[in-house]
Amino acid sequence: MKAVVIRTFGSADGLEVVDLPVPGPGPGQVRIATEAVGVGGVDAVVRRGTLAGYGFREGHLLGSEVAGRVTAVGEGVDASWRGRRVWAFTGLSGGYAEQAVAAVGDVLPLPDGLGAVDAVTLGGSGVVAHFALRHGRLAPGETVLVRGAAGSIGIAAVQLAARGGAGAVVVTTSSAGRGARLRELGATHVLDRAGEGGGPDAPSGFDVVIDVVGGPQVPRFLDRLRPGGRFVAVGVVAGPPPADFGMRLVDAFRKSLTFATFSSDTVPGPDRQAVLSAQFAEAARGELRTVVHQVLPLSEAARAHRAMDAGEVFGRIVLTP
Ligand SMILES: NC(=O)c1ccc[n+]([C@@H]2O[C@H](COP(=O)([O-])OP(=O)(O)OC[C@H]3O[C@@H](n4cnc5c(N)ncnc54)[C@H](OP(=O)(O)O)[C@@H]3O)[C@@H](O)[C@H]2O)c1
Repeated sequence: MKAVVIRTFGSADGLEVVDLPVPGPGPGQVRIATEAVGVGGVDAVVRRGTLAGYGFREGHLLGSEVAGRVTAVGEGVDASWRGRRVWAFTGLSGGYAEQAVAAVGDVLPLPDGLGAVDAVTLGGSGVVAHFALRHGRLAPGETVLVRGAAGSIGIAAVQLAARGGAGAVVVTTSSAGRGARLRELGATHVLDRAGEGGGPDAPSGFDVVIDVVGGPQVPRFLDRLRPGGRFVAVGVVAGPPPADFGMRLVDAFRKSLTFATFSSDTVPGPDRQAVLSAQFAEAARGELRTVVHQVLPLSEAARAHRAMDAGEVFGRIVLTP
């Protein structure tokens, strides 16, 4: 089968289309003939080698979510899965391929009315956004900042926060055009990447920050938390925060601030499945919008990554084998 691996860490030029043996399925797994493969910001983070400390090596087969049809089931898996159209989380590898395997506990049937491309566009991002907002204990009427809102996690977080009754949904993004699109999804105020430029009515402080970006500017957003504010670090698309960022929290002792990390790995599988299943149904009814930036052939994965690196992507790029 055709697949895309990281030949060398670094730029998108290090991605390579290769022929690999068709995988498994092993015990407890299903094999899926992929129809759509989600390209996430996390794939770019892995490709750059940022997560090499977590055991990722060159030669790694990228990709964490796919949708398609189950073609084989492993030992211990109900045969009724065979032939079903599903979405699946493959972990942090194995998705950029014509055939992928996933643990049956990470597989969800697609509802009628939801295509494979939309399923991988919402997919894991909607779940991350849901539980990150819960981790930040966002309450109705409160002000939330979604930092890095133009990615798939941010787009879901903006919609969920707006629907959940946030008093204001503030976003950071890199252009007015992207800001206008985020307003259509529920953002009430648009800031630039540095957190400036929102106009006179923009909130000066936030109760909750959902941060997909990380990087050197984390301290300036910590400074804008209101008393009792909660900062939830969800992603590191701009790299890790500066080593001494925690001192800002200590310096602001009297504000009773919270800095939290959030990983959906800590959410029990059945809880993730329940939320994803509800979100798929909402997406099929048009209540939750999926934003597809572009659909490209699997063989053009490097082009997808170049577009991500150039900051051109709004929403998600999807690969089709
Ligand atoms: N916590 C979890 O459970 C979990 C699960 C999956 C993934 N993740 C993490 O989430 C991240 C990917 O999320 P995603 O796919 O939604 O993000 P993304 O699309 O890669 O990036 C989101 C947005 O951030 C902005 N951005 C990019 N680089 C920036 C920079 N240097 N400074 C400021 N803003 C920048 C861009 O928007 P503008 O150009 O409009 O500013 C971009 O659209 C990864 O770090 C991944 O590890 C976390």
